[in-house]
Order: sequence, then structure tokens, then C-alpha cells
Amino acid sequence: MSSRVVLLGPPGAGKGTQASLIAEGGAGAHIASGDLFRKHLGEGTELGALAKTYMDKGELVPDDVTIRMVLERMEEPDARDGYVLDGFPRTLEQAKALDAALEDQGRGIDAALLIEVESEELVRRLAGRWICRRCQAPYHEAFSPPRTTGCCDSCGGELYQRDDDKPDVVRARLETYERQTAPLVGYYESQGKLARVNGQQSVERVTEDLEAAFGA
Ligand code: AP5
Repeated sequence: MSSRVVLLGPPGAGKGTQASLIAEGGAGAHIASGDLFRKHLGEGTELGALAKTYMDKGELVPDDVTIRMVLERMEEPDARDGYVLDGFPRTLEQAKALDAALEDQGRGIDAALLIEVESEELVRRLAGRWICRRCQAPYHEAFSPPRTTGCCDSCGGELYQRDDDKPDVVRARLETYERQTAPLVGYYESQGKLARVNGQQSVERVTEDLEAAFGA
């Protein structure tokens, strides 16, 4: 069943992992703001170069360009009936812009799902993460290794470690999350749309809990 779902949670909580599984389960298109920035970076666009200056420091890319990029992506045909938003919104400004855009279409999001994971676990996850250069699938060298080292199980693409997974940038990303994104929990709670899910379980259990939370 297609849905309009926002996945919230700190860096490394498993948003990308879960968004992709929920989207494959029929919820709709997986739209990840970080992946969109990395795509721009790979294509050498001006937006990619701008985004990199913020991503390298663990800071957020300015709201105006981020909102425009994500709302444009939401207009594409695969997102017409539903989507799972991963990493967006990340500020109150972005959340309000999303609500306003949906209100214009007489809609709203169905649920905001918060994946909760302790800080020490987040640091462990990001330090061991490898990503597919081609399809962005995430792996972990200890928790979910690929079948062949350095090679994506799904598409055969090369695996790499993100520049912003270095320990000092991870620390900055966690601080940015607490300062700018954590307030969204209250925002969605006051709309009666927030559900919390324990992210420190197996990937499969987390998926089941998330799907149950939005009635998939
Ligand atoms: P972005 O790419 O969105 O990064 P993030 O939010 O920091 O999240 P991550 O991708 O690091 O983690 P995740 O929660 O997706 O976890 P994953 O599934 O990979 O953003 C990067 C940057 O772009 C930002 O810092 C900012 O500069 C910019 N940006 C992006 N969006 C923006 C916005 N809206 N506004 C402004 N700027 C923006 O899992 C992590 C690891 O854990 C993996 O190795 C995985 O295999 C493993 N794992 C997952 N689940 C489990 C489990 N249950 N048990 C054990 N291991 C697990």
C-alpha cells in the first residue's frame, strides 16, 4: 500500500537501510536528500559543489536549495502515489515547507517514524559502514557484510566509505542533529503523527515495527 512517510533519526540510525526496504515493500519511492546531494556531487554540478562544503563539515546544506531539490524530486512519476522521505525534513523550516507543499495538494504526510539508537552504537555503525557507489545500498563490515568484499550484492557496484564518516565529522553530524533536527520530534508529536521505533534490533525487526507503525 503506498504511503507518505517521513523517516527521522540521527546519522547512522538506519534510515537509508529501512527506507529502501519499506519502499521495496510497496510504500512508494525512496527519496533520500543525502543521496540526491551525492548524485549531484558525482555529476559535478554547482549544487553538488555547494553541498560538499557543508557535508564535509557535518553541517546542513541551506534550506532553500534543499527544499527546492527534494520537492522537485517528489514531482517525479514514481513518487506520485507515495514515498519514503529519508533525511528530509531536517529543520523546522523544511518540515513547514513540506507541509505547505502537501497542503496545496489537499494532502499531508501519513506518519513520521523516529528510529531511536544510542550514540555509542551510531558511532560504531558509521565507522564500519560501506556504501555502493552505484545504487547507494549500505553495508556494515561486521553487522551486514557484502557476500564479496568491496562489491555490492544487489548491483555489483564498488563499495566505498563516505568522507563524512570520519570520526570528527561524525561528531559534528551528531551535534547538528541534536541542535537542528531533534526539534522535529516535537513538531510531529504535536500533529499526532509521530511513532517511535527501537532501532537497536535486527534490520528485519526494525522493518516490521516501522511497517506496523504506519499500517503497511
Ligand atoms: P545523509 O546522507 O542523509 O546522512 P545521515 O542522516 O547522517 O544518515 P546516514 O546516511 O549517515 O545514516 P542512516 O540513518 O541512513 O543509516 P544507514 O541505513 O546508512 O546526509 C549527509 C549530509 O548531507 C548531511 O550531513 C548534510 O550535510 C546533507 N544533508 C542531507 N539531507 C539534508 C537536509 N534535509 N538538509 C540539509 N542538509 C542535508 O545505516 C548505518 C550503518 O548501520 C550501515 O552500515 C548499516 O548497514 C548499519 N545498520 C543499519 N541498520 C542496522 C541494524 N538494525 N543493526 C546493525 N547495523 C545496522
